Amino acid sequence: MKYNIQLNKTTNSRLSQVDFDNIPFGKVFSDHMFVAEYKDGAWSDMRIEPFGYFEVHPACLALHYGQAIFEGMKASADADGNAYFLRPEKHVERLNRSAERLCMPTFPEEAFLQAIHTLVDLDKEWIPKAKGSALYIRPYMFADGEFLGVRASDSYKFIIFTGPVGPYYPKPVSLYAETEYIRAAEGGIGEAKAAGNYSASLLPARKANEKGYDQILWLDAKEFKYIQEVGTMNIFFVIDGKVITPHAGGTILRGITRETILMLLEKHGYDIEVRPITIDEVVEAHKNGTLQECFGTGTAAVVAHVHLISYQGEDMELPAMETRKIGTFIKDTIDGLRNRTIEDTEGWIVPVKAFETV
Ligand code: COI
Repeated sequence: MKYNIQLNKTTNSRLSQVDFDNIPFGKVFSDHMFVAEYKDGAWSDMRIEPFGYFEVHPACLALHYGQAIFEGMKASADADGNAYFLRPEKHVERLNRSAERLCMPTFPEEAFLQAIHTLVDLDKEWIPKAKGSALYIRPYMFADGEFLGVRASDSYKFIIFTGPVGPYYPKPVSLYAETEYIRAAEGGIGEAKAAGNYSASLLPARKANEKGYDQILWLDAKEFKYIQEVGTMNIFFVIDGKVITPHAGGTILRGITRETILMLLEKHGYDIEVRPITIDEVVEAHKNGTLQECFGTGTAAVVAHVHLISYQGEDMELPAMETRKIGTFIKDTIDGLRNRTIEDTEGWIVPVKAFETV
């Protein structure tokens, strides 16, 4: 099915003001955004308009009771400037799983895909070319009903905006294994890409920063024993040649980059284990010299090497960067797929195409 997307193009592009040699993460926004409204049980008024402010009512339900979810995806370009997505359909599938958990309406998959194609095609000049950079795409949905009782809203906004980004973590990161605060318990909203999961990370992350660490490493909510994920990404360890990542048992985000990496590692014959992993196992591996690598993964971070993990007052330094073969291979493979220097044998790469607008 084709959806009617109204187009109101900007007459005042900001593209010429962008310094493409120096793009920080998350501060530069492209010219247009997609907006859709959910009212009376249906999505309507789909449109692309100039990126800009919009009004919200003071009683906007998302601001009070937190019905707010989002996605993070990227578009990149090959040497000829053709634009591509990597596994875009996975993002609408996850958006809709998050929506169901937060009692929000799902967004039609075809409308989502049409919207990102149209939006990115329109703003494709904003895709940065430098290695490690991309056009970040932020789809999000929030309850904009105007009401003070605690109930699911009956109206919502779905918005997609984009912006050129450089690497989220330009350098290897240090992690503080958190033993006071928790991210998510079984039965909670840990698997949803919900705004609240990130707000829960802010105070512990700030405290970790004050102690000199870049991010927190979440442990499980019952025993502070099993590793879940980092505040901003999923986590992988390489111990004695095996690549281990926590299983997605309902409390961690089912990362699309995480899944892509697992598929790539399997295809290339690596020994992988997706299972509960304890912080004690990591400590033990560090002690006996078998902890070879650790890296975080996500759309924004892609693959971020971890150089240190702190747990209960002990700082565990990881082996030098030059030895991180698996994390580096994975990062290079994802970058190469995205910029089309590595052949896509899996059918993951989707060329951006123009749709008609009204
Ligand atoms: C992403 O990786 O795209 C996310 O949404 C995580 C956020 C920390 C930027």
